[in-house]
Amino acid sequence: MKIDWPSHLPVMVQFWRTIMFGDGGYQRNPLMAHMKWTSEVRMDEQKFQHWLDLFHSTIDELFSGPNADLMKMRSANMATMLPRRIKEFQNLS
Ligand code: HEM
Repeated sequence: MKIDWPSHLPVMVQFWRTIMFGDGGYQRNPLMAHMKWTSEVRMDEQKFQHWLDLFHSTIDELFSGPNADLMKMRSANMATMLPRRIKEFQNLS
């Protein structure tokens, strides 16, 4: 699949602002957004772990301090939770 970055990136900014500072206005459901793509894009634990490694090294390159630590903790929780929930939903259908 080809990601439409010009439309995807602003959504990512909204999402992370909402997670980190509560002011991004993101009100959608990321789980459902990913469920739409599971037949086209591999979304298992290893893929999410790879995403998490890249995300954490990017945070470390650019930031340090309590917010950087919090963002690493929250992203780690999501990278664990999302593939589990995706699998649960797939088993239901
Ligand atoms: C390898 C891991 C991942 C893959 C392959 C993946 C893939 C995708 C894809 C295909 C979309 C839809 C893009 C579009 O509509 O153009 C998407 C949207 C999104 N992803 Fe991921 N994703 C991954 C990990 C994550 C993680 C860990 C998070 C959260 C921390 C996340 C948060 C989001 C959000 C917030 C959206 C936007 C949903 C919306 O439209 O409201 N993704 N992702």
